Amino acid sequence: RKVALTGIKPTGEPHLGNYIGAIRPSLELTSTYESIYFIADYHALTSIRDRVELATYTRSVAATWIALGLDPARTIFYRQSDVPEIFELSWVLSCVTAKGLMNRAHAYKAARDRNAESGATDLDAGVNMGLFNYPILMAVDILIMNTDVVPVGQDQTQHVEYAADIAGTFNHLYGDSFSLTVPKGIYPAGVSAKALPGVDGRKMSKSYRNTIPLFAPEKQLRKLVRGIVSDSTPVEGPKDPDTSAAFALYENFATPEEVKDMRARLEQGGTGWGELKNALFEAVSSWLSPLRERYDELVAPGSELDVILATGAEQARDRARPVLTGVRRAIGIATS
Ligand code: TYM
Repeated sequence: RKVALTGIKPTGEPHLGNYIGAIRPSLELTSTYESIYFIADYHALTSIRDRVELATYTRSVAATWIALGLDPARTIFYRQSDVPEIFELSWVLSCVTAKGLMNRAHAYKAARDRNAESGATDLDAGVNMGLFNYPILMAVDILIMNTDVVPVGQDQTQHVEYAADIAGTFNHLYGDSFSLTVPKGIYPAGVSAKALPGVDGRKMSKSYRNTIPLFAPEKQLRKLVRGIVSDSTPVEGPKDPDTSAAFALYENFATPEEVKDMRARLEQGGTGWGELKNALFEAVSSWLSPLRERYDELVAPGSELDVILATGAEQARDRARPVLTGVRRAIGIATS
């Protein structure tokens, strides 16, 4: 079977955007692909400096996956930091990757642009080497598992292309001895082709602090949904659903009939944004309520999560080792 692999960075509580962009599509692939999903905790280290936060978010990302239906008996599920092979391959692949490629990476360029706008003389101010090397580590996550497809949101397109690019370079240099599988991205189709918006209408993102966390307490969920930006069209006025962040969210969580009905009512007038938000809250909370108990159980210290992750780490290392051995032989580093 072909391999599907994806990761989530524990830089905050996992949110609706992570679900639509990565978790839901990935869970759908588990019946047809060999699935390998992980928590990218060392990627989070490029921005998280608080050890308690890093540990907490790592646990909530893990508990979220399982509460939402990941079956550890069918999916290899682990923490990136438990697989040291990744970090060894990371060095090897950084030696075959052009620095210019990393200079053009979106996140790095965005950091420099922000510095330029604020008038800083050092455009690299605040950029650590982890941020700069980020795409290489992500390429290794993918390549070390012989991944065929990477289900991710559109914001990860460049990263997956870089992984394919780096595999291509390696294969060009050493392919006579050992080849890495060249991966492809799989992106959510249809209404969610663009990023899911957050409460301020921009892309839902932990770094914008505009997220709706999946397992926020119900009261907080209601408050966040009520606070989603909307224009000032009065209740009676006809509205354009396609400019509404709340409607974009609703499209992803309500049934197709409900979405069609809501669209017609908004366009007609007489239905206010408040009514749409109530319906959105109902759709999200009726889906999550039955899963909450399981989440709380898993996230608690000493839960079965630790065993699941320890088992996953062994499985992941077993998969990674032969790839690393192939690479070591190919480059001329002796392997016993
Ligand atoms: P991260 O943690 O930022 O996001 C995890 C996944 O959620 C998707 N996503 C969204 N999709 C739709 N709408 C949104 N508003 C939205 N926000 C986030 C992301 O596209 C992603 O699929 N670099 C990765 C983590 C990573 C990884 C990997 C992924 C590390 N190694 C190897 C795949 C394969 C990241 O920062 O995702």
